[in-house]
Amino acid sequence: MAISTKPTLIPLVILIIITHYSTADTIVSDLHSLRSQSPSGIIHLNETLINRILKSTPKPFHLIIFFDALKLHNQPEPNLKTIKSEFALVSKSFIINNRNTSLFHKIFFCDIELGESKHNFIRFGVRALPDIRIVPPDAKDLKSDSIPIGLGDYPGMGIAESMADIIDLRTGVSIGAIHRPPIVTKTQLGLVIGGFLMWMPFVAKKVI
Ligand SMILES: *[C@@H]1O[C@H](CO)[C@@H](O)[C@H](O)[C@H]1NC(C)=O
Repeated sequence: MAISTKPTLIPLVILIIITHYSTADTIVSDLHSLRSQSPSGIIHLNETLINRILKSTPKPFHLIIFFDALKLHNQPEPNLKTIKSEFALVSKSFIINNRNTSLFHKIFFCDIELGESKHNFIRFGVRALPDIRIVPPDAKDLKSDSIPIGLGDYPGMGIAESMADIIDLRTGVSIGAIHRPPIVTKTQLGLVIGGFLMWMPFVAKKVI
């Protein structure tokens, strides 16, 4: 009995299409849940995770990667700690501004630590810090297809604001307003009010 192979091809093609897209869905939902577990929304990329992301096709999102080196955080140059906190501010603001929009799946903020995966610094061609890269959905070669975010480009602007501007420009995804925490924190405000209340009785007595 001759068995025709043709009819079996169709389910096979469907199966391939389904697995193809479900890989992307899984990685997107995994990135989502990792992001929701991080206070700043920055996903820490280890070797396993980055390989998984890079292998998954299609990748319907941009990665914004901060190349970090914790051992440099206590050094005044290259001021990595400040730049990292500005990066976190962009990430938090993006989440606040876009939580319920379709853009929410289009960008994921990540970091890679030098002490953990030097190999990835080499893969991306990172030579000096700070280095922040945009990895577009269609990037094939990480060195040449990733877009560096230069921070010297917008004098007079906050670092977070200029990062957000470059991301808008290069990804087409608008970050929206940067939500800077108020300069006087709640604790400081509490101390001021507490001090005032303690001082009040003395003033009141004097007046009386
Ligand atoms: C890498 O990160 C993923 C996601 O956070 C985690 O599940 C996994 O255990 C990590 N692997 C290693 C080797 O740290």
